[in-house]
Amino acid sequence: MGQTWINNLMAEAKFINNAAHILKLVQAGTPADQALRESLTQDRHYTAPLERREISRAVFAYYRWWRWLNPKDSLQKQLEAALVLRDRFDKDPANIKAEALAARAVPDWVKTEMAVIPADWLRQLQRDPTLWIRAKAGTGAAIAAQLGLCTSATQAPDALRYGGITDLYRTAEFQSGAFEIQDLASQLVSHACAPQPGETWWDACAGEGGKTMHLSDLMQNKGLLWASDRSARRLTKLKERAARAQVFNCRVAPWEGTAQLPTKTKFDGVLVDAPCSGLGTWQRNPHARWTTTPKDITELSVIQTQLLNHIAPSLKPGGRLIYAVCTLSRAETTAVADAFTTAHPEYELISPFPDPKSQTPAPITLWPHELNANGMFIAAWKKR
Ligand SMILES: C[S@@+](CC[C@H](N)C(=O)[O-])C[C@H]1O[C@@H](n2cnc3c(N)ncnc32)[C@H](O)[C@@H]1O
Repeated sequence: MGQTWINNLMAEAKFINNAAHILKLVQAGTPADQALRESLTQDRHYTAPLERREISRAVFAYYRWWRWLNPKDSLQKQLEAALVLRDRFDKDPANIKAEALAARAVPDWVKTEMAVIPADWLRQLQRDPTLWIRAKAGTGAAIAAQLGLCTSATQAPDALRYGGITDLYRTAEFQSGAFEIQDLASQLVSHACAPQPGETWWDACAGEGGKTMHLSDLMQNKGLLWASDRSARRLTKLKERAARAQVFNCRVAPWEGTAQLPTKTKFDGVLVDAPCSGLGTWQRNPHARWTTTPKDITELSVIQTQLLNHIAPSLKPGGRLIYAVCTLSRAETTAVADAFTTAHPEYELISPFPDPKSQTPAPITLWPHELNANGMFIAAWKKR
């Protein structure tokens, strides 16, 4: 029944025209996720939630299959072709050959920026992403029962994969702060930090506070959690979200990322969730595949190295420093981690998730096709 409704909807010229209208906004310079958010939430034109969802899927399908499309065709025709490709791939991923994915799913420069390009990663990039929820510590089963259509993750406690189509932001549980929408890879970053109740932590690139709220939850709201960012707008949003989630142990302070730190406090742990090129988010945000450049990677790797260097003096002996980036380029991951290890003999490299079977500490790469989530690189050090 639902599928028939969707098929009928997609056959309508109006549906394709609505999606093409959003693509025009993107082509005029608005990032796809922003154009979708603004058009679908502010324009009263799009009323049915299923229609909104399918328009988003169509716009993202356009950028997933972009290099298969004929740019001389009208946007409407290209969209129709993208939806046909999506359906063929969803029916059986083998319908699209691995060679074609390697040649077209990502820009050519990726070959020189990534150490390996797994065929399974390219295949994963062409799928719709999974929606992950983070329930407050110890409440995963209860939230799953309340929302329905949830599957528990094996990799993180209280992480739930949501398979429904309800707008979760409008649920009473979300409004009361009982859960957050947060990718599984992001949740694993806070688990790698493993802050203890009563400790003093710093979320140095806190943004809108996705990980700040998780760190506070893991600390059982006890101890002190500094949250900083260079963007005042993001910190304002963080404060709103923290109030909803009833985070009481957080102190917010702006920080430009320079050697002038926001406090003289010495920390038990610092998380540097650094700005990055975001190659790990290309499944969720396929438009970024075609707007990100190697120059971004070079510039961001300089900023990442500087952030770590500036933060290094702020940890107590025995304190843990965690570096996370949702990207997969060599320059922003292993190269930044290796440079920090070499430049800071006062820090010992440790494994983000201790593995009793492994003798050699090493950073970890979380791959989208293995986790069914964003890609993420995590490195960890302990101050000697
Ligand atoms: C990956 S995002 C952080 C996401 C956030 N931790 C979360 O979980 O929602 C990186 C953040 O670093 C901030 N940033 C960028 N350049 C910076 C700099 N030079 N110094 C400090 N923060 C910076 C950005 O404003 C952005 O909010």
